[in-house]
Amino acid sequence: MRRMKKVLLGILALLVLLVLGAITAVGWQVVLGPDARAVTNRTFERTDARLARGQYLVENVAACFHCHSEPDLTDPAGVIKAGMKGAGWEMPVPELGKIVAPNITPDRETGIGTWTDDEIARAIQEGINKQGKPLFPLMPYMNFRELDDEDLASIVVYLKTIPAVSMRRQRSELITPLNVLVKTMPKPLPAHAPKPAPARTTSQARGEYLVKTVAGCQDCHTPSDDKGQPLPGLDFGGGFLLHDPADHMKPIFTLNITHDPSGIAHYDEALFVQTFKTGLIGSHRINPIMPILNFRGMEEGDLRDMYAYLAALPPVKHRITNTDPPAKCAVCGQVHGLGELNAAKAK
Ligand code: HEC
Ligand code: HEC
Repeated sequence: MRRMKKVLLGILALLVLLVLGAITAVGWQVVLGPDARAVTNRTFERTDARLARGQYLVENVAACFHCHSEPDLTDPAGVIKAGMKGAGWEMPVPELGKIVAPNITPDRETGIGTWTDDEIARAIQEGINKQGKPLFPLMPYMNFRELDDEDLASIVVYLKTIPAVSMRRQRSELITPLNVLVKTMPKPLPAHAPKPAPARTTSQARGEYLVKTVAGCQDCHTPSDDKGQPLPGLDFGGGFLLHDPADHMKPIFTLNITHDPSGIAHYDEALFVQTFKTGLIGSHRINPIMPILNFRGMEEGDLRDMYAYLAALPPVKHRITNTDPPAKCAVCGQVHGLGELNAAKAK
């Protein structure tokens, strides 16, 4: 009997150790809640310059409403439903569960009308909402944490001026284990660390900030493994899988936007600007899953800077299209147009 008890206690101790080990491996946040800093009383003064800059960033470069508004699926151009700007959208990403980009209009009951400036800023850059809940990084807070102070302030100032829309949305329901792991994802920023804009003296440096921090082109144009991690060596090489909500959730892959013959080596600066301004690749209308309607409003100088940055990236060999029949691809491991022409990298 005594022996039995000892064995049982031993097993129990082992179990406790195993559970503790598992928790430390993923992070104590799964038990204690996400890392978050306390909100501060900082406010962002509303100025004309911030309103204009904020409008440009929110509407055209960061394309916040591309995710945070329901598209009108009957319109092939990809416009959002009239009167619903910022009122939220359940996004078509079945792999992750139910993903809802919430209502971010200033409505006090169903939107963010009661949030303080710092609560909005903390959500945008650190992935913690007013209620202290962690946000899944499909909301690009990992990119936005690099925003310059003045751009962040401009975004918050402008966001508070859009029309309030009363629309109650459900919250996201992530699949297991993401619903637990999401708690380990937010990383607080020091509350009092100023981040003024550095002097970006080259076109490439300005382009890098717009591409990676504000627009997040890499999030769509870099393929990922089944855990959502970017595949190494394929930065901007295309092959990220999306689903077209306007066409029965048909798979749509992003394209290779590096300067390789299999990518966009045939582009020059003028063609790049033209593609963005018209939304057309030749006569093919770019699928509005890419926020092209937003990007079309980007300033030409900014488009040229983005082009300079992309043109200097290491070229990736990855042929891919959405217009040819799908075939197995040895580079990204998926099944997509022109996949048969891609040879696996020599190890
Ligand atoms: C790629 C899609 C996408 C883009 C672009 C995007 N968001 Fe989000 N955002 C989301 C999703 C999805 C969530 C909810 C995440 C969750 O439920 O875990 C979210 C959450 C939020 C929240 C928290 C709201 C709440 O009630 O918890 C705020 C605030 C927010 N986003 C603001 C912005 C702003 C401002 C921008 C542009 C600067 C932006 N978002 C761009 C997808 C996006
Ligand atoms: C939400 C996902 C998404 C984002 C964000 C996105 N793209 Fe795309 N992009 C796509 C998809 C999907 C296509 C293919 C469209 C098609 O086949 O109709 C595409 C196509 C393109 C093309 C055409 C390539 C060719 O072969 O002609 C270029 C250039 C491009 N994207 C550049 C960019 C840049 C630069 C950014 C950031 C400013 C960006 N994209 C952000 C999804 C995205």
